[in-house]
Amino acid sequence: MATVVVTGRLPDETLGALRDAGHEVRAWEHDGPVPRDQLLALVEGADALVTLVTERVDAELLDAAGPGVRVVANVAVGYDNVDVPVCADRGVVVTNTPGVLRRPPQTWRWRWSSCPRAGWARPSGSCGRGRSGSGVCSYAALLGRGLQGRTLGIVGLGGIGRATARRARAFGMHILYTGRRDAPSDVVEELGARRVELAELLEAGDVVSMHLPYSAATHHLVGADELARLGPTSYLVNTARGPVVDEEALVHALQEGTIAGAGLDVYEHEPRVHPGLLELENVVLLPHVGSATVETRTGMALLAARNVVAVLAGEDPVTPVG
Ligand code: GLV
Repeated sequence: MATVVVTGRLPDETLGALRDAGHEVRAWEHDGPVPRDQLLALVEGADALVTLVTERVDAELLDAAGPGVRVVANVAVGYDNVDVPVCADRGVVVTNTPGVLRRPPQTWRWRWSSCPRAGWARPSGSCGRGRSGSGVCSYAALLGRGLQGRTLGIVGLGGIGRATARRARAFGMHILYTGRRDAPSDVVEELGARRVELAELLEAGDVVSMHLPYSAATHHLVGADELARLGPTSYLVNTARGPVVDEEALVHALQEGTIAGAGLDVYEHEPRVHPGLLELENVVLLPHVGSATVETRTGMALLAARNVVAVLAGEDPVTPVG
């Protein structure tokens, strides 16, 4: 019997899958991320760790766990919170949860105004009197921009980027993408997607959506110069990782109207949100909930459990990283 430490509240099925495989499960059972000092105590003696993106998995954590750890199963498609080389040095397998996160909600998130915060009594498009007493029935009130015929620029045409592009195609959008390599020809054909350099994508995109992993190489990939290329009628969506965008530069661009608006699910210094963003009306802010459906979160947690069970049984992990 191995000891599996789970660092957050996961669906019961996940803990059940680990126990059914004969393992003892020690889980953080409170809402919110486990404080670091309690995490270091929690992992002591673990054979396997099931971690969330809120936990930094580094040498300190592995030291606290001790020499028995064989696998770190990160419950996320991104694994920038895990020091993969340090794990590799110690022979610890790292896994993630690709292929589950296929419900990118940003298509539905793009709300070009912020009625609730402005105190409007009814949702966008309706007529009536706002709570403030001002009429909202003007012909030009709450106008957004249609998506038909516009261009979506996808930065990183992996699984989530493709799923986003498919939904955008249903709205009649054209797809450009940028990435390290060409997407497979069937994907390119299905999406009618064209690969371009980032500069061209920003200049041509009416909406640019970030779908790339975070690493030193992608830190601040989009900064002041790139936002200037995007231009005053275009929107930036970031549901990937906060630091791929220079948040200070983004706040400035939104304040100055250098770009039209942004939809953000992730932040550079999460969970802290830049105070400038909170004051703006041309940005939609969500609290890192891109995967927050029952199906997706359960699927991710179960996949992490399958990875742990496989590695502890001496088998190959299902979805290794690195
Ligand atoms: C969510 O942020 C993920 O990486 O799965």
